[in-house]
Amino acid sequence: MQFFIDSAEVEEIRALNACMPVEGVTTNPSLILKSGRKIEEVLEEICSLIGGPVSAEVTAEDYDNMMRQADILAKLADNICIKLPMTADGLRACREITANGHKTNMTLCFSANQALLAAKANAAFVSPFIGRLIDNGGDGLQLIADIRKIYDFYGFGTKILAASLREPGHVSGAALAGADCATLPPQLMRALVQHPLTDKGISAFAADWAKTGQIIGG
Ligand code: G3P
Repeated sequence: MQFFIDSAEVEEIRALNACMPVEGVTTNPSLILKSGRKIEEVLEEICSLIGGPVSAEVTAEDYDNMMRQADILAKLADNICIKLPMTADGLRACREITANGHKTNMTLCFSANQALLAAKANAAFVSPFIGRLIDNGGDGLQLIADIRKIYDFYGFGTKILAASLREPGHVSGAALAGADCATLPPQLMRALVQHPLTDKGISAFAADWAKTGQIIGG
């Protein structure tokens, strides 16, 4: 499973990229708002840091304006992936943008049927929103497993990009359910490395090491 960062904070992405697997980035209008910066500038900077796909979301809701915005976003960098909402117009734009040679990410997916339509529209990625589905009484991880089964059964190449992940269990759960990629907020990415027994072990080794009186290389 590939790890993406769900953020529009350039410095956070840079810092994580130094120690964690950052194989792509996803952004959305809410994350751009949080950054307080201009979308084009943020995307260009992220694309210069990360070689993998960087999802940039259109904000238009009709096909013509989606296509116009997609054209502007796609010109920012070669690794821009156009993120489109799961609507009839979004599916139409997805098919066209893919045919034009760009990567697409169908977002706000909450059902296996929507994922099936994304695959039929030749999307490079489909983004099931795990946390938001759970918030609304659904089973987000089962949705990933269902999409995996359908995609494998019919041989679809669309990648399952698990999104709206809120806790470490969602990440391992997405991996077990067969997600191809998972996009994580920076704090969740950092939380993955932590375990109380790791901290306890480091303290115990440090205490014993101090008792030896040795210095490595000394
Ligand atoms: O990239 C979109 C998705 O990850 C949003 O997550 O936590 O706002 O539901 P959240």
